[in-house]
Amino acid sequence: MTTSQKNNGFVIKPISPLIGSTINGLDLSVPIEKETLEKLRNVWLQRKVLIFTDQNLSPEQHINFTLQFGELDKYPFLRGLKGYPLITEVLKLPNEKINFGGVWHSDTTYLAEPAMGASLYALELPPIGGDTIFCDMCAAYITLPNDIKNEIAQLRAINSSAKDKVSQTRSNRISNSEDAKKIFSSTHPVVRTHPETGEKLLYVNEAHTVQFEGWSIEKSQPLLNTLFQHARKPEFQCRIQWQLGTLVLWDNRSSHHYPINDYTGHRRRLHRVSLKGDKPTVARVDTL
Ligand code: SIN
Repeated sequence: MTTSQKNNGFVIKPISPLIGSTINGLDLSVPIEKETLEKLRNVWLQRKVLIFTDQNLSPEQHINFTLQFGELDKYPFLRGLKGYPLITEVLKLPNEKINFGGVWHSDTTYLAEPAMGASLYALELPPIGGDTIFCDMCAAYITLPNDIKNEIAQLRAINSSAKDKVSQTRSNRISNSEDAKKIFSSTHPVVRTHPETGEKLLYVNEAHTVQFEGWSIEKSQPLLNTLFQHARKPEFQCRIQWQLGTLVLWDNRSSHHYPINDYTGHRRRLHRVSLKGDKPTVARVDTL
């Protein structure tokens, strides 16, 4: 979808050639009619990231909106919002240096069934900065050289919740629950098939993927680094400049994200809700 189009009074507009579309003029505080919801889901699957502008949502309305896209899941490690265990507050205080999730990642790939997606709603923002970048992991896979596609076709990779860089990003907000002390680890295919679109996508991420199954960490590192760097190409990205009342809904299977930490000295507060995912399946990749 490359041009703006009107549907039932709202306007869908791409913000980059491959990934991300804004949806202007839709009120998420009320239930969305079936036909509109189907349209939104299709755009979401194609564009991976939807940016809904000018919303005014209570925590219940945020939850109810997200529920229209699937079952909700509690985010591991972090305390839920008081009275709303399914909402996680993403908060950085002016005196804090590290931001939550400040590494390129796909959420919870250390679980057997990583999140399908998430919605994030902006409540307090710095005067400038604090943008979030997303990248398209289907495009990242398609554009890999054939020799690398062949090399990774049958590989599986081990994902852990305990990689140093990402653990630091949640240390200020960790809950006291049993989960908070656990280390989660799961092995997934390196090339995953999207369960709804059937597209193949690259399914390793810098925050959680540690090594290929059957390979040492040292042996895995060069190929993993090549994949991470390839996925990060600006051509596969879109950048969200948050406004108060913006809600972003992302497909966590086919995109990675990176919240930019360039606003130290200011508060930034958002509410996030996670959507329950499924077990990643192996993509069949014929030798090229
Ligand atoms: C996250 O990774 O869930 C946080 C994203 C953000 O703060 O923009």
